[in-house]
Amino acid sequence: MSIEADLLEHRSDHRAERPLPRDFVWGVSTSSYQIEGAVQADGRGPSVWDNFCRQPGRIANGDTGDVACDHYHRFREDIALMHRLGVQAYRFSVAWPRLLPQGSGPPNEAGLAFYDRLIDGLLEVGIQPWLCLYHWDLPQGLQDRGGWEVRDIAGWFGDYAALVARRYGDRVKRFATFNEPSVFTLFGYGFAWHPPGLVDRSALHRAIHHVNLAHGAGVDAIRAAAPGSAIAAIHNVQPSRPVATTPEDAAGARLLDAYWNRAFPEPQLLGRYPAELAPLMEAVVRPGDLERIRRPVDWFGLNHYSPIYARADEQAPLGFAWADSPATAPRSPIGWQLDPAAFRDTLIDIHRRYRLPIYVTENGAGAVETPNEAGEIPDRERIDYLRSYGEALREAVAAGADVRGYFVWSLLDNFEWGAGYANRFGLVHVDFATQRRVPKASAHWYARMIRAEAMEAVI
Ligand code: FCB
Repeated sequence: MSIEADLLEHRSDHRAERPLPRDFVWGVSTSSYQIEGAVQADGRGPSVWDNFCRQPGRIANGDTGDVACDHYHRFREDIALMHRLGVQAYRFSVAWPRLLPQGSGPPNEAGLAFYDRLIDGLLEVGIQPWLCLYHWDLPQGLQDRGGWEVRDIAGWFGDYAALVARRYGDRVKRFATFNEPSVFTLFGYGFAWHPPGLVDRSALHRAIHHVNLAHGAGVDAIRAAAPGSAIAAIHNVQPSRPVATTPEDAAGARLLDAYWNRAFPEPQLLGRYPAELAPLMEAVVRPGDLERIRRPVDWFGLNHYSPIYARADEQAPLGFAWADSPATAPRSPIGWQLDPAAFRDTLIDIHRRYRLPIYVTENGAGAVETPNEAGEIPDRERIDYLRSYGEALREAVAAGADVRGYFVWSLLDNFEWGAGYANRFGLVHVDFATQRRVPKASAHWYARMIRAEAMEAVI
């Protein structure tokens, strides 16, 4: 398609009266354990996910991240794919156990050198590297020493952050400490869906607090080693709704909201735990901790998918249970509720609460897909999703939300945690038997959209 045709299509899609900021950043996201594979290559130590995947019944189909997209060996091809997409930024995560095989102690030069190659390769084609320190692959060695339940982990994380910022801070200008702290703490310690596979309320509260302390230590370490870089944490925020209009369910939804949406941003940005959690956290919070946690940051990373639902359940360890979205709600092919208005409202709400520039670091649609006979993946539903969520973002900007970038989850189909390889979120299809990558229709759509946006910005 010609650029003029792109522009026309784009304008009819997006009504040009809702312009985005001129320096708006378009990107794609991935994470280390979900794509790298090569779990034993070049001195990488084991992570909690390597072990969790080996426990029977944890992951659909018994899948593991052992090979995943083999990105560790194929990163050059993946950079070329991004270059063809025309993205300006790539958000990835560093595997802590590749750099520090035991989590602390002597660093692994081969692991450090891998991310040198990745970062240099991105910069060569003009793509900004956005580096996230922690996307859930904790070194097993640290889990064996108590993991997130012990306070020492804040120091271990701070040392890891310093190592990363010293090594890459000359080239990386965007750092994030954690990806979705509420997901790995709540799923790991409240529901046993993620490692370490516990249902233990007081362990959950310890983990929440120590992740928050680690965030503070990480921000300080990055700031010291890479002054001038822009630092944040990445939070998943989605409306938490009661499944029925009873006061009990409403209380359950408020509690879920506190754990899911506020247990990390409020202490990190406002210096307090949410009112619902504060009494529960008293046992672990020491004098001065909230000052250690509330360190100045530069932006807010927002991951957003679907609204979540709760119902009251006095027997449940946390006092609420997860509930399904209403049967009549529109859903994606993997059953996640579609609600772009919730995305718009979340952006506006985050802007009002925290007053930081917002970058949407994850948003996207999952599906169960196979190529057609021509070898193509005509993923119309994903395009519709990206279009409607993009429109919602524009509405939020028009309403005053300071949104400065958007990253699709994900560049590639990858290891989708408990769902294994069944749920595909990529703009690019991966045949896991051959590692062949084929851009889906949505990749072509996204590339055209970015080109048209770049044209709008110079017209
Ligand atoms: C988010 C995770 C990401 C991916 C998407 C679908 O919660 O951060 O790794 O699994 O969901």
